[in-house]
Order: sequence, then structure tokens, then C-alpha cells
Amino acid sequence: MLQDISQYILDIAENSLKADATRVDIAIEEDTGEKTIDFTVSDNGSGMEENQLLAVHDPFYTTRTERKVGLGIPFLKQAAEICGGRLEIRSEKGKGTTLQANFKSDCIDCPPLGDIAATLVTLVVGWPRRDFSFRYVVNKEAFAVSTEEIVGILEDRNLLATPETAQWLRRYVTENIKTLRSGRE
Ligand SMILES: Nc1ncnc2c1ncn2[C@@H]1O[C@H](COP(=O)(O)OP(=O)(O)OP(=O)(O)O)[C@@H](O)[C@H]1O
Ligand SMILES: [Mg+2]
Repeated sequence: MLQDISQYILDIAENSLKADATRVDIAIEEDTGEKTIDFTVSDNGSGMEENQLLAVHDPFYTTRTERKVGLGIPFLKQAAEICGGRLEIRSEKGKGTTLQANFKSDCIDCPPLGDIAATLVTLVVGWPRRDFSFRYVVNKEAFAVSTEEIVGILEDRNLLATPETAQWLRRYVTENIKTLRSGRE
């Protein structure tokens, strides 16, 4: 099992990138009244056939060749279900995949959010040719950022993968989430 929700998001987004997605949309929604935390990762990658989609819940199913088991999705499913939540995957061959996980945040085993800024920096800097968007909602208050927006400001896509951009993005995301979460209750 992974430590926190940010690590699960990174793992799931890496599936999207392996499936040749050119765009990955990540959203996290917290509701402190309902005590839920949900996240969605949506991509325009290769998608899956119906039988493949049924098989992904099985830890022995993988299309990777280096080892024989794929653990990302089964781990996440287990983590969500332990906390009274669920995992839902919708996929269409040739169109893309949307995965949504929900957790009950008052469950003692609910993973902490973790370092979501680090996850985003890893994705943006590691895959500067792909587009990412990120949206964080706490009780309907939202913060959003996207690579399109950043490239618009930088006026040069090559600058996405620089240490300066990484540092700026890390701080920008961390501060905005901190502000958003400090207003929750
Ligand atoms: N977004 C996606 N688009 C297309 N296929 C996907 C996507 N996510 C998962 N899959 C398919 O489901 C399989 C299982 O995914 P899972 O994350 O559980 O394991 P893995 O990626 O193969 O291995 P691991 O995550 O342990 O490195 C993948 O090998 C891939 O074939
Ligand atoms: Mg995986």
C-alpha cells in the first residue's frame, strides 16, 4: 500500500502517461461536512477494452513486461474500500480513461493527502510535452492550475522542465492548498 493520496495520484497518472495520454486532468475534492475526500484522474490515452477494464481489478493483470503483476489499481481499490469508499473506472478504447476514488476522511485508515505539490512537479517536470491540469476543491472553494496556463505565462514550453519552474510550481501549489484547507470546517 502507498503512504498517502498524493502517491496514489502519481501512480495513477503514470498509468495515463504509459497509455500515451497527451492530457491528464487531476481533481481532488474534500467535503469536511460529509467527511469525504475524492480524487479523479482523467486522461485521453489509449483507453481499455471492456475485458481489460474488468481485469484491472485483478493484481495479476498487467500489460507491463518487466514483471508479472500490476499492483497500482488493486492497492488503491483496497485502500479506498478499507475506508468505506470505492474505486470506479470508466474507459473507452481509443478515447481515454477516468478513474475516481473516494475515501471517508474520518476513517482511521484514511491515507493523508501528502505532498500533492511534489506529485504535480514530478509530473510536469518529468513529462513536459504532456498537458496536465489540477483542481483542488474544499467545500466548493476551488484552486486550479494547468500547464497551458503556465506555458502561456512563460511563453516557451521548454521552460516547463526547468528547476525554476519546478520550484515556483511547488510553492504556488503548496501555498494555495494551505490557504484553501485553512478555511475548511
Ligand atoms: N489510464 C489507463 N489507460 C489505459 N490502460 C490503463 C490505464 N490504467 C491502467 N491501465 C491498464 O491496467 C493495467 C494495470 O494497471 P496497474 O496500475 O494496476 O498496474 P501496472 O501499471 O501494470 O503496474 P504498476 O502500477 O504496479 O507499476 C496496466 O498495465 C494497463 O494495461
Ligand atoms: Mg500502474
